[in-house]
Amino acid sequence: PEAQLLTGKKVVVTAGGTIERIDPVRYITNDSSGKMGFAIAGIAQELGAEVTLIMGNTQVSPPANVQVIRVQSADEMYDAVLSQWDEADIVVKAAAVADYRPKEVYKEKMKKTGDTLSLELIKNIDILETLGKQKTHQFLIGFAAETNDIERYAREKLERKNCDLIVANDVTRAGVGFGTDTNAVNIYDREGLVEELQVMAKEDVARQLLSIAAERIAGGN
Ligand code: PMT
Repeated sequence: PEAQLLTGKKVVVTAGGTIERIDPVRYITNDSSGKMGFAIAGIAQELGAEVTLIMGNTQVSPPANVQVIRVQSADEMYDAVLSQWDEADIVVKAAAVADYRPKEVYKEKMKKTGDTLSLELIKNIDILETLGKQKTHQFLIGFAAETNDIERYAREKLERKNCDLIVANDVTRAGVGFGTDTNAVNIYDREGLVEELQVMAKEDVARQLLSIAAERIAGGN
């Protein structure tokens, strides 16, 4: 078969929200459906890559024929990504990872007691930032879900997490971000804006993003 854009490349994609347990029947999560990451995994496979999809909590089915690792918590997601890290050429972090988790995970269902209840949360590992520190040959793509000062926050995350590209979505806009079949994003590198994509199918966002990544890998970044 003819070589495609990502033939011979290994692409690792994270998708969906993490689940942070409170007790055996309760947890904290977020609105990520996994669709953005699934689109990236599916298109990467279409473009000839060997793909591993690491997925958290979602109600949506992942693309057929993609190798999947299912995880719950941020800690589990981190372990799964690390297991694929050495061989990865491109790592795309589309997952919505919980920044905090309950400090204590109750072994038994919590009982209803007082009129108020406080849960103490502690910080989760920042997977992307940790990967950014140990990056060797990997091309690292982060996402930034923002509601305000999009460019400033996205570029600050790009720097802090040592990404090669960051994909910023304004999740207050209709048809953008969590749960929808479409997205609109600005893609930044260290120098600034690389591409501005209007509202379009998440598969089309994926195609544009992966072609930028493929071009940069071929050019030695
Ligand atoms: O799943 P969908 O319903 O299709 O929605 C898509 C999406 C809105 C979830 C997706 O487009 C998106 O923006 N994903 C990133 C969401 C997010 O958590 O963004 P953030 O700005 O909080 O995090 C920035 C980056 O750091 C992300 O790549 C995130 O995966 C990563 N991160 C964050 C926290 C943490 N503890 N570890 C991380 O690796």
